[in-house]
Amino acid sequence: MHPMLSTAVKAARRAGSIINRGARDLDRLTITTKGPKDFVSEVDRAAEAAIVETLLATYPDHAILAEEGTAKDANADAEYLWIIDPLDGTTNFLHGFPQYCVSIAVRHKGQVTQGVVYDPVRNDLFTATRGRGAFLNDHRMRVSRRQHLKDGLIGTGFPYRDGSGFWEIGLNPWDVAAGSLLITEAGGLVGDLEGENQYLFGGEVIAANPRVFAQIVNLLAPYRAALASRTASAKK
Ligand code: IPD
Ligand code: CA
Ligand code: CA
Repeated sequence: MHPMLSTAVKAARRAGSIINRGARDLDRLTITTKGPKDFVSEVDRAAEAAIVETLLATYPDHAILAEEGTAKDANADAEYLWIIDPLDGTTNFLHGFPQYCVSIAVRHKGQVTQGVVYDPVRNDLFTATRGRGAFLNDHRMRVSRRQHLKDGLIGTGFPYRDGSGFWEIGLNPWDVAAGSLLITEAGGLVGDLEGENQYLFGGEVIAANPRVFAQIVNLLAPYRAALASRTASAKK
């Protein structure tokens, strides 16, 4: 295993232990609201602190961009940037719905080169190193060979609104960085709604096997202008 990946795995497992401990007594957690439908708990913060401490112990000069506020040298020029979501799926976690994970990636000179997604409930570890494939625990992962969108299982997330107007779901880099490498190393494609490469900081993402990816991009083409104006109004 690449040394950076193994450090990321160590950090993810530490965070996973903190999350599992927190899950045993959800009623006692301190929870704050960051925005509409956007919560953070002491578990998110403790998991982030453990991850950052683990990474910096081995790579003290690297830059860090993490959801709960750790931003060390996190600029576009950073040679090595760790992109971290310490607990992806906080809403599920807080409701005791066992579908959440730790997500850690390394971006090296503009490309995601290492990715770990760890599911602490099932003890499932998803890993990828650029050019070396994607794995679930010890098993190599491949995207499906399905040829048609209609035969696939599709996961979606859309912007939505309440009485106060549109809220953008707006994916952040920590939501997609590690997962995107898992997909591409499993033979899939990841892109923005136009199928282009600007998804990491763009807030929108499509991921699928190559055949289905092209079909989704084509399917969305007539709606692109409407989606763009909806996103723009949500950002106001
Ligand atoms: C959220 C999850 C969710 C997505 C939201 C994210 P969090 O992350 O990834 O699936 O729809 O946009 O904010 O806050 O649980 O880390
Ligand atoms: Ca997230
Ligand atoms: Ca999170």
